[in-house]
Amino acid sequence: MAAAAAAPAVSRKTETYTDTKRRDDVRGANIAAARAVADAVRTSLGPRGMDKMIASGDQAHEVIITNDGATILSRMSLVQPAARMLAELSRSQDAAAGDGTTTVVVLAGSLLRRAQTLLSAGAHPTAAADALHRLATCAVDVLHGMAIPVELSDRESLVKSASTALNSKVVSQYSSLLSPLAVDAALSVVDPAHPDLLDLRDIRIVKKLGGTVDDTELVRGLIFDKKASHAAGGPTRVENAKIAVIQFQVSPPKTDIEQSVIVSDYAQMDRILREERNYILGMVKKIKAAGCNVLLIQKSILRDAVTDLSLHYLAKAKILVVKDVERDEIEFVTKTLNCLPIANIEHFRADKLGHADLVEEVSVGEGKVVKITGIKDMGRTATVLVRGSNQLVIDEADRSLHDALCVIRCLVNKRFMIAGGGAPEIEMSMQLAAWAKELQGMESYCIKEFADALEVIPYTLAENAGLNPIAIVTELRNRHARGEKNAGINVRKGQITNILEENVVQPLLVSTSAITLACECVRMILKIDDIVTVR
Ligand SMILES: Nc1ncnc2c1ncn2[C@@H]1O[C@H](COP(=O)(O)OP(=O)(O)OP(=O)(O)O)[C@@H](O)[C@H]1O
Ligand SMILES: [Mg+2]
Repeated sequence: MAAAAAAPAVSRKTETYTDTKRRDDVRGANIAAARAVADAVRTSLGPRGMDKMIASGDQAHEVIITNDGATILSRMSLVQPAARMLAELSRSQDAAAGDGTTTVVVLAGSLLRRAQTLLSAGAHPTAAADALHRLATCAVDVLHGMAIPVELSDRESLVKSASTALNSKVVSQYSSLLSPLAVDAALSVVDPAHPDLLDLRDIRIVKKLGGTVDDTELVRGLIFDKKASHAAGGPTRVENAKIAVIQFQVSPPKTDIEQSVIVSDYAQMDRILREERNYILGMVKKIKAAGCNVLLIQKSILRDAVTDLSLHYLAKAKILVVKDVERDEIEFVTKTLNCLPIANIEHFRADKLGHADLVEEVSVGEGKVVKITGIKDMGRTATVLVRGSNQLVIDEADRSLHDALCVIRCLVNKRFMIAGGGAPEIEMSMQLAAWAKELQGMESYCIKEFADALEVIPYTLAENAGLNPIAIVTELRNRHARGEKNAGINVRKGQITNILEENVVQPLLVSTSAITLACECVRMILKIDDIVTVR
């Protein structure tokens, strides 16, 4: 009995030394899970790609409709760790470039498929991973070779890139309005002192229900998505405004510690009320004395920022009040108005105020907003008022606008663009395959296989546009073999044309970052041979 038990133990020991089945299984499962994620978003690639409806929350009541890869993947509840890596990959692309978040995942899926073929043909995972590393470097060189320099003064090219990004979105029919708007918004915040920097936090998007996306506008000034305070008939329109941004409360102070004050007769009560009135009146007088006629009040968590009484006095002093300005908006607001936030009534001085021609409450759609225009020495910020007939459209317009702004940011950071429509991918694929022929052994084999994987982008673009993918990709290869580097898929005409003439261009940074990040992610997945769960 004892001998019988010992025998399998010995054989198991030798097995663990030679048997790599478990590792292959783990790798296989990882690749399969990651590929499933890539397949899920593949249909949404390109201008004719499909959109996804994502239902979440209680009884799936929260619905969004989107085409944005990063949004789709971030909403998926993925459990398998390798599948989560793909969602992470698309988030990295979103952070690095902002566009191309579907492309990067589709590329990774295709590279993984080829990796699976290589592994089953006997290639070692490390060899495949190393080949990918070299491939990524070389692919980026190919992309650089195709790049076209662009100047920020060349507004037309910037608009073309923005509209390529918007072409594939749900709101694509509005791209003729949104693209120039995105370009103008982006360029208006670029500081000439730092021409390579574009901080998207300087562009605020305010969403307001009502109207259509056509009514979206770029506002040279500030917009508050709230009404002016109407208590006691205060003003709702002020010309020649002197604006203060305050962070203190115009209400009676509270004690620091929990205390209760017992009022036993009317005389005491009167005194308290009088004190309160005098206190507030004193504040309002100081505010008025500094010449202020518009007050923007930060939301307070300690106590009410304003009371009925203070609103009453402010209204009497003809001061327009906007209350509940969020704390994180203050920086943007003060930058735009070119003024300083005031933290204490004692520091309320005229030199801290901002100046504008007009502050006005206007009706927009179903609600009202406060608009500040004609700001003197306005800071480098921009506000876009996005409109739409329902929340789904507005949200998607917001996300699409973000993509377009990111595209401009890419071009500001790195002033090169590249043809779209599958041209860069097919060019990379062909040049890398030619390079693979010069290499030897396993590396050559791996690189050839991975080079072919890049064809997935033109293949999918054609497939999603309802064209014959094999015929299109073959034709595309032929044209590139003849030296037409910018031949791409013209989805409108359903044929291959010089895609630059179709104005389909995208930033170089989007393509380089997509290929580098996809290769890096696939390398990581290939090199994992076990999953250890720690509870
Ligand atoms: N008019 C067009 N004709 C041909 N190809 C186009 C056209 N417009 C865009 N493309 C191509 O579509 C691809 C981009 O598609 P899409 O915008 O759906 O995905 P993405 O940019 O990878 O992801 P996301 O926009 O969701 O972040 C690019 O390869 C681009 O070259
Ligand atoms: Mg895009």
